Amino acid sequence: MKVVDLVPGQVAEIPRHSAADLDADTFWRSYVVAQRPVVITGAIADWPALQRWQDTEYLAAHAGDTEVTVARTFNPVPAKAFFDRAEKLPLAASLRNMADSEPTDVYSMPAFKLPERWLADLGRYSFLPERYDRRPILFPRNRVFVYRNAGTEWHHHGIDETLTTQLRGRKRVSVFELDAQTRKEFTRIIRSNLHHVNGGAKFFPPELSIVKYETIIEAGDVVYIPPRYWHGIDPYDNEIGITFAHCFRSPAEGIRQTLRWVGNGFK
Ligand SMILES: [Fe+2]
Repeated sequence: MKVVDLVPGQVAEIPRHSAADLDADTFWRSYVVAQRPVVITGAIADWPALQRWQDTEYLAAHAGDTEVTVARTFNPVPAKAFFDRAEKLPLAASLRNMADSEPTDVYSMPAFKLPERWLADLGRYSFLPERYDRRPILFPRNRVFVYRNAGTEWHHHGIDETLTTQLRGRKRVSVFELDAQTRKEFTRIIRSNLHHVNGGAKFFPPELSIVKYETIIEAGDVVYIPPRYWHGIDPYDNEIGITFAHCFRSPAEGIRQTLRWVGNGFK
């Protein structure tokens, strides 16, 4: 199941920055406060995870007694009813199973808390010093996704800033922002899953055109996704993929925007 192309729109590239050329204040002002997505390359070159996590046996050996939900599907939205029925299994054994599976097999371990030993392999983002890296309001600060051939359905986060950090494998990320004119209609269609119907593009009114900002990320790349941006994700290879999501608190103006959004009935 691929989701990115199910939503029609004009396609543009997400701007790219090398971490070496992106200082913290520029990142904060030009992207976080401005609420613009950006890809940051070379941002985690010094994180031990970038090398160590390519080895599944290393990850399994450091998984401790963590148990995870393992589903044989992409990540649908809403996910709860679906994943409540999925199996809870030891992380270590599940990783080994996934590594031994066929290249077309689908596995998803939706967001889970990192085992202590995995957490120790992460570093900091040079462009996000502590003064900006404040505790998120709703989302956990750190979570990780492990998958094979499983993407994630279009969704958005009402609040908190997200750095999607690719540690292993490649994936295609598409994001778009809705304005007052388009958000009601698009939200209705996507939430009703009409985009999955055969020929589903016809449900999107052609006069409500959107710009989808897209990129392919690989291990070492970070995508900043602002709140309220819809995003859909498709794997771009058949390998085991690992994505680490780090969330931090929105600037005051961003929180005010979200409150206005919710006040207008758009959750
Ligand atoms: Fe998300």
